[in-house]
Amino acid sequence: MTSSADAVTPSITVEAHIGPDDRRRAMEHDVRSGLTAPAKHLPPVWFYDERGSILFDEITRLPEYYPTRAERRILQLHADEIVAAAGARTLVELGSGTSEKTRLLLDAMQQAGLLERMVPFDVSEEVLTAAAADIAATYGCEVHAVVGDFHRHLGTIPSAPGGRLVAFLGSTIGNLDPAQRARFLADLAAVTGPDDHLLLGTDLVKDPARLVAAYDDAAGVTAEFNRNVLAVLNAELDGDLDPAAFDHVALWDPQNAWIEMRLRATRPVSARLAALDLDVTFTEGEELHTEISSKFRPEQVGDELAAAGFAVVAGWTDPDGDFLLTLARPSSRPT
Ligand SMILES: C[S@@+](CC[C@H](N)C(=O)[O-])C[C@H]1O[C@@H](n2cnc3c(N)ncnc32)[C@H](O)[C@@H]1O
Repeated sequence: MTSSADAVTPSITVEAHIGPDDRRRAMEHDVRSGLTAPAKHLPPVWFYDERGSILFDEITRLPEYYPTRAERRILQLHADEIVAAAGARTLVELGSGTSEKTRLLLDAMQQAGLLERMVPFDVSEEVLTAAAADIAATYGCEVHAVVGDFHRHLGTIPSAPGGRLVAFLGSTIGNLDPAQRARFLADLAAVTGPDDHLLLGTDLVKDPARLVAAYDDAAGVTAEFNRNVLAVLNAELDGDLDPAAFDHVALWDPQNAWIEMRLRATRPVSARLAALDLDVTFTEGEELHTEISSKFRPEQVGDELAAAGFAVVAGWTDPDGDFLLTLARPSSRPT
């Protein structure tokens, strides 16, 4: 459902599939079910209000947080090849945030004379519209921004003659558990045409000490980001959760091959979310699960893509072998 479609400038369109009411309904559902469950949990989507997006951006510049630098390095080295292999004139980016690294793809598309349109897609409207304006001003291309949830609104991505390059960077796919990933990739395959390509960024399994450090930095920015979810709940649901009563926890789970972020109550906590008429209590030491960040083996990425209906065209890692970018196309396409 399109709740608004405003022409902001001649070359920027913002199409919103998540209005304030939808966002509120989804949050109420997630918070009520997550905070009353025996093992408390919230999905990571609620980290990203404006402050959450700014904090994530700060995380990407931390010395311990190698994934962004590694992925940027791959794009610096291989964006030309990626763009030539895809041959698309439209770049779609899912979970686009500030689209900072994506500019390397836009540069390569522009240099190849391909760039016509950029479709940034994100749940966070403020960051999305700022990025859209900046991209339109820098590249002079059409920008069609979509405010949407990639679990529900993939079908709203506009089609493009000649195909689309759909980028899903930052290992955001690692925030989904295996069942959610399978569903997401199958949904994406279902809306992908024979001329489209998927460019998927995945963080690779490595020394657990480096992994944990990347999610528990010395400056405490990731801790701030993690606690921000409580500030989002307080602001939107008239709550009084005390972020200072929670420790940031980042653990490597070798069985599931993911980093798990949690908030652990340092004392008994009683809070009220007035807008939900919901009282929430934590015992000392009780944890709220806020994010998983799955790490991948290269062959596993190919297997998960194949199971969803994609065939790998090519893959690139950074020189240190930390991160993988995979280019794939729908597997049903005749070769
Ligand atoms: C880990 S950040 C990655 C940002 C950027 N792509 C990068 O590589 O640095 C995840 C981004 O996905 C967005 N996001 C999270 N869940 C989403 C969802 N369900 N639908 C759409 N966007 C989502 C967030 O708002 C955020 O901008």
